[in-house]
Amino acid sequence: MISIDSKKLTEFAIIAGTIVSTYYLMTMPSPDAIGANFDKKAQAKSDHNVKRILQDNPGLAKNLQSLNTYEKKILADVFIPNEKSTRFNDIAGIDDILEDIYENVIIPLQEYGTDKKHLNHDLQERFGHIVENGLLEAPKGVLLYGPPGTGKSLTAKAVATECNAAFINISISTLLSSYYGESSKLVKALFTVAERLKPCVIFIDEIDSLFKTRSNTDHEVTSKMKSEFLSLIDGLETDGGILMMGATNRRTDIDEAFLRRMPKQYKIGLPDKEAREKILSLYIQNIPLEKGLSIELIAEYTSGFSGSDLKEICRNAVNNMIKEYRRLPSSQKHDVRPLTAQDFGLNNLPDFLD
Ligand SMILES: Nc1ncnc2c1ncn2[C@@H]1O[C@H](COP(=O)(O)OP(=O)(O)OP(=O)(O)O)[C@@H](O)[C@H]1O
Ligand SMILES: [Mg+2]
Repeated sequence: MISIDSKKLTEFAIIAGTIVSTYYLMTMPSPDAIGANFDKKAQAKSDHNVKRILQDNPGLAKNLQSLNTYEKKILADVFIPNEKSTRFNDIAGIDDILEDIYENVIIPLQEYGTDKKHLNHDLQERFGHIVENGLLEAPKGVLLYGPPGTGKSLTAKAVATECNAAFINISISTLLSSYYGESSKLVKALFTVAERLKPCVIFIDEIDSLFKTRSNTDHEVTSKMKSEFLSLIDGLETDGGILMMGATNRRTDIDEAFLRRMPKQYKIGLPDKEAREKILSLYIQNIPLEKGLSIELIAEYTSGFSGSDLKEICRNAVNNMIKEYRRLPSSQKHDVRPLTAQDFGLNNLPDFLD
């Protein structure tokens, strides 16, 4: 007679239960799975973006036909720069970097689709081969790295505006959030949409969250997506038109294989005193300061502040002043008081003020 060991039976039941539920989770679409329920808000945004792109660029109508669901989802994250979009002159204190990006990235991208007109006839005759060999093309990848709040995302956006390119700002969580098997279709769609919209900048913020140095603990979906990504970057055509931009606070954590595909890398560090002055000027240039206070002095006492911190103290200062201004009786509304050191939260200044 077979004796049934109740402990073994329980163990067997637990193992069987785990296998069945894992299989269920892997195969059943999640409620926000793209195919069935491509979220209504994203769908509306995607349709809106397609309309806007076509308004500005009717010539793209052919390229935007028969989009698949994944491409539509990516199109929800496309930004088309307009006159109000961030430009290089909205960024201060990193002039050298912007100049280098202008020469090496913007000009070649702007010239995408043209016959490289900047080479005059004489140079074309002598060095035409450098055009054919692709030496004048924009690099495929640009990495911006450095501490938080230093203007990396801002710069990426401005690059798209300056070269009048579509800007796809995709987050790793969008790519990874979908259910099993969808991620790689979304990654493919990212590149096919970029191809349809050329010239186009694909911007991936916090790239370290995907391209951390490979480890054995990588989830299968993540490592598959990584290799897929790398091969799609390799497959980008050499005639330019698509630029990959990444930003990170932790360059040292990034996989070598990815870094190799980002030939242009710019470190954007915390601003020094001169750069802080430029950033402060950008925000409060025309606003009067109390006697004895100057932009130079504020810059001196904000060592270690990022561009974002500086913008924040300017915002606070201006808001303090405006709050009081609003409370003034209308007869005194012409008296806008100057900004004080205290408005900027600078209470440690030497005793220079009257
Ligand atoms: N150099 C700068 N000139 C003008 N504004 C700046 C500069 N740096 C930062 N800012 C301001 O700070 C905000 C935040 O900057 P941004 O998002 O580009 O930082 P980031 O480097 O991408 O930071 P993170 O690493 O946290 O993503 C910008 O929108 C801008 O308003
Ligand atoms: Mg950023």
